[in-house]
Amino acid sequence: MHTLDDHAKDISEDAAGEAGTNSSLEMNLKKQDTEAGGTIILFFILGLFASLVVGWVIFPNLLYSKKKQPIDFNHVLHVEAVDNGCESCHFLREDGTFSGAPKLAQCIDCHEEIQGISPDEIKFVEEYVSKEREVPWLIYSRQPDCVFFSHAAHIQGAKMDCVTCHGHMGESESLKVYEENRITGYSRDIWGKSIGGFKKNTWDRMKMDDCAECHRENTANIEKTDIQTPTQRLIDHIVNLIPPGTSTLGKGGSVQTERDPCFACHK
Ligand code: HEC
Ligand code: HEC
Ligand code: HEC
Ligand code: HEC
Ligand code: HEC
Repeated sequence: MHTLDDHAKDISEDAAGEAGTNSSLEMNLKKQDTEAGGTIILFFILGLFASLVVGWVIFPNLLYSKKKQPIDFNHVLHVEAVDNGCESCHFLREDGTFSGAPKLAQCIDCHEEIQGISPDEIKFVEEYVSKEREVPWLIYSRQPDCVFFSHAAHIQGAKMDCVTCHGHMGESESLKVYEENRITGYSRDIWGKSIGGFKKNTWDRMKMDDCAECHRENTANIEKTDIQTPTQRLIDHIVNLIPPGTSTLGKGGSVQTERDPCFACHK
């Protein structure tokens, strides 16, 4: 009668007998292994490359719809033509509100009639000035309706330069393409140039955290606007989880408990 042990012996003997003939097969297998490894690495690199292209090039292009301004506008030419620089067109009214994008009335003195050969000026005079229609400018820096922003506090109060928040728009010879985020409706100037969230210049992005970051550093006297960044909030929440409620981090800045700090910038 065959016992289990015998059976095991049979198998190991068989295996020993075949060992010699197997070695070339093994080598073949090994070779196939390294080849397969090479292919896998190649596919990995291709896949990585493809996803980077999708993530950094294709997705951002799909995410933003591009819109052209109704007419182009040359800042350099106009800043020279007017008497008062930027303030000729963008000024603070008596009541402290900001005039924003200029109205037709501010252009009419010089553009009652076509004075040059620029197709943009011809379009401007024919389609807007003579029909008394305001130009529907697209505002790059437009914030959502819930946000309160005061130019007076920044350019008069804090003596800040337009460039800090708007970049070199005032020194440009033509208006750039307006990019609108298809999901949020935000302009790309608010949501940020870099999809990865990197920021080289102060004007690259103007989301809530960007306002708050500058306020935290430059406005020790307005403690009202001391709010936390998402990272700080996350750390605070984690710290709070361990011994519940014992964290002293960010006391008074919690989104849930304090309403006052929010109303500096929210209506
Ligand atoms: C003759 C009038 C005129 C003068 C002078 C002028 N601008 Fe403008 N500005 C405009 C018009 C028109 C627009 C287009 C509105 C738009 O689409 O934003 C504009 C847009 C802007 C915007 C973009 C706002 C946004 O977010 O859409 C900025 C920033 C700006 N101007 C800054 C300046 C600065 C800085 C100066 C002075 C160096 C200046 N402007 C002088 C007429 C003028
Ligand atoms: C102080 C006079 C003055 C004022 C005010 C003025 N412009 Fe002009 N604008 C000019 C001159 C000068 C030219 C150059 C005309 C030429 O020779 O082509 C010009 C050219 C233009 C052009 C064609 C060139 C270009 O692409 O910018 C447009 C469009 C234009 N203006 C729009 C406006 C608008 C909109 C306003 C009001 C926000 C305005 N201008 C206010 C003097 C003025
Ligand atoms: C602290 C940042 C900051 C500074 C400094 C600043 N702006 Fe703005 N600007 C903004 C924001 C934010 C908005 C959008 C406001 C909104 O949508 O309620 C805006 C909007 C505008 C608009 C479009 C407004 C409209 O409703 O038509 C113009 C034009 C403009 N700014 C010009 C200027 C000029 C010119 C200066 C310099 C004298 C200046 N800004 C300085 C942040 C700034
Ligand atoms: C680069 C710096 C900087 C950025 C960016 C900035 N601010 Fe400010 N903000 C200031 C300074 C400085 C003051 C003036 C504080 C003072 O009067 O002491 C101020 C004041 C204010 C005030 C008046 C607050 C008060 O209680 O008087 C409001 C509202 C405000 N900012 C909203 C915003 C919003 C909204 C944004 C983003 C869209 C923003 N700020 C971006 C620097 C900045
Ligand atoms: C320094 C100015 C500032 C302060 C202070 C501030 N916010 Fe904001 N908030 C903004 C700006 C600017 C936006 C629009 C840009 C964005 O979505 O990041 C915004 C957007 C938001 C949104 C999204 C709204 C939307 O339509 O997408 C919420 C929610 C919000 N804030 C809540 C708060 C709460 C809660 C507080 C108080 C802890 C607060 N904010 C304090 C400037 C501020």
